[in-house]
Amino acid sequence: MGTLPRNRAASPQYDENKLGFGTIFTEHMLQMRYSADEGGWQVPEIVSFQDLVLHPATMMLHYGQQVFEGLKAFAGPDEEDILLFRPDMNIARFNKSCARLCIPIVDSDLFMDQMSKLIRLDRDWIPRTHGTSLYVRPTIIATDPFLGVRPSKQYLFYIILCPVGAYYPEGFNPVKIVVTDKYIRACRGGLGEAKTAANYAASLLAAEEAHEEGFTQVLWLNAVDKCSIEEVGTMNIFFRIDGEVVTPALEGTILPGVTRDSVIRFARDLGNKVTERQISIEEVVRAAETGSLQEIFGSGTAAVISPVSHFRYKGRDYMVGDGQTGPVARRLFDDLTAIQTGHKPDPYGWMVNVGK
Ligand code: COI
Repeated sequence: MGTLPRNRAASPQYDENKLGFGTIFTEHMLQMRYSADEGGWQVPEIVSFQDLVLHPATMMLHYGQQVFEGLKAFAGPDEEDILLFRPDMNIARFNKSCARLCIPIVDSDLFMDQMSKLIRLDRDWIPRTHGTSLYVRPTIIATDPFLGVRPSKQYLFYIILCPVGAYYPEGFNPVKIVVTDKYIRACRGGLGEAKTAANYAASLLAAEEAHEEGFTQVLWLNAVDKCSIEEVGTMNIFFRIDGEVVTPALEGTILPGVTRDSVIRFARDLGNKVTERQISIEEVVRAAETGSLQEIFGSGTAAVISPVSHFRYKGRDYMVGDGQTGPVARRLFDDLTAIQTGHKPDPYGWMVNVGK
């Protein structure tokens, strides 16, 4: 990113009402290095936001040994509040992904302490406009300057912060998705449930083709049967069919979303029948044809709740419900964002206040 303004008001690009996703970064970042030959993790430090200087042979650049996370901090109603949404789940998932990628785990308490410290330092960057938040991106990369294929012995763990608005240009308005049976995202035993760059790289070509056809995202099918539904790459997926809310079960190929987990709990408490099970694309097509497909929506940290108005499968287009945002998606979005910003009580103990 190079040079950044010392404060957000000085930035010509900064308008809290026009925030997109992932383009503006705050003044500081956290860094912590790991060296197997020097006793493991070194002392963490918060430094000015800056470019990384990497050796051209840095292992991550060649073999993709990397893990990241995404979570959000919200400005609460009290000036002092900084509310994090379920950070314990992101930290646990980060370390689970690290284990899969042969990366040393980060102590959870240290992770939480340092992340909170960084967010407190850059608290002026937390946007307050409705629908905005401070997106937190912890990342770890393999840094050995070495071209042999093996796990790195050195790593850089860093956290950057990013004031964001809606992830999709559509905001909370419904998106259109296309079901692909041409490409696959992941298969069992692979990396599908880890939050690592390779999964996103695998999704790019399908996403480009989807965009060319006018779709926002790709709905992935199981790699083996090309039949059961998996996820949307940037979000998990939910269907409401005949009053039952269904989401694909976690079987090792999809990301165990923090928002997914929250939606399941929340939708149940709102009186919905919620089932985690295999769901085939044929079942969804049948439901669309017989009029029992009431809603489709995605869930994710960046996307929050994203209603789906149409989907395409094998060249045919299907409308979901009446093509508008459904009542369950709306209620989940409204209540979830109200809890996240402290405007509604949090009956689950999900929010962690790191402001004071
Ligand atoms: C998130 O929801 O935090 C994600 O990581 C999805 C995407 C921005 C990669």
